[in-house]
Amino acid sequence: MAEGRKINTETEILGLIGYPLEHTFSPYLHNYALDKLDLNYVYLTFEIRPENLQEGIKGLKSLGIRGVNVTIPYKEKVLSFLDEVDSLADEIGAVNTIINKDENLKGFNTDALGFKRMLEEDGDFEINNKKVLIIGAGGASRAVGSVLCRNGIKELYLINRTRKKAEELGHIWQKNYPHVKIETGILAPEYYNLLLKRVDLVVDTTPVGMSPEIDVPPVISTEKFHSNLLVVDLVYNPAVTTILDAARKAGAKTLNGQGMLLYQGIEAFELWTGVDPDNIEWPGDIFKI
Ligand code: ATR
Repeated sequence: MAEGRKINTETEILGLIGYPLEHTFSPYLHNYALDKLDLNYVYLTFEIRPENLQEGIKGLKSLGIRGVNVTIPYKEKVLSFLDEVDSLADEIGAVNTIINKDENLKGFNTDALGFKRMLEEDGDFEINNKKVLIIGAGGASRAVGSVLCRNGIKELYLINRTRKKAEELGHIWQKNYPHVKIETGILAPEYYNLLLKRVDLVVDTTPVGMSPEIDVPPVISTEKFHSNLLVVDLVYNPAVTTILDAARKAGAKTLNGQGMLLYQGIEAFELWTGVDPDNIEWPGDIFKI
């Protein structure tokens, strides 16, 4: 329990569900903010075994738990146990935040909302009308592409090691966003080097470069990076991956995944409490937790 707050009959419960739950950032982040803002909530962790997931979700209602974050391996599985799913989360097919309002469970995807907020607030990047290259076609890519399409990008190029996965995701986006020009391809320099001349934003959604494998070469060759690009790597540990280092050397603006991590939490916090914790001062070591 964070210092300074008292648990009493009015205390509302928030938490995190997943399995297994290892060392995680969310309890620290949320309890820190609740403390700073003197809000009568507590954020706990609930490790729910796979065979108990449905019961666990039902339990949120019966115990009056106000809201939870959802992490691996349940972000997709929880959808079918909810009463309502926000349209962006539904399209992405993943929920990382649930609100319990009068025994109605509604799911959101604040990873996607956090990514958008990071681009706008930390990258000073106006999404509307932009051209984007996304690398990787997994869950993170789904969230990033959907929120970008929804916010008015003009062109989206998706490249992936496995062509089929890029094509499948490209088809979904093209169906949902007929006005966005969408193209898919593989990690071939002769293709992406042409795209690098054309796009405003590059987002690396692959885990390449993540600690402990920090010295591996970037997932694409960075020879054609230039100073008009914003290059985002969703990896946050290390803070500067090899792709971001190369982007900086080319004079490009860069963002790592720390902003998305923080803002997904901030967006969830605001959904549950109605208070935007953005103005509180976060400790300098917050990402080392
Ligand atoms: P997440 O849900 O975090 O996005 P994921 O679903 O495992 O994670 O997706 C990871 C993505 O990174 C995939 O698109 C994967 O490419 P494949 O579809 O070919 O598997 C990509 N990826 C992972 N390791 C990679 C590597 N070493 N080189 C290139 N792409 C890689």
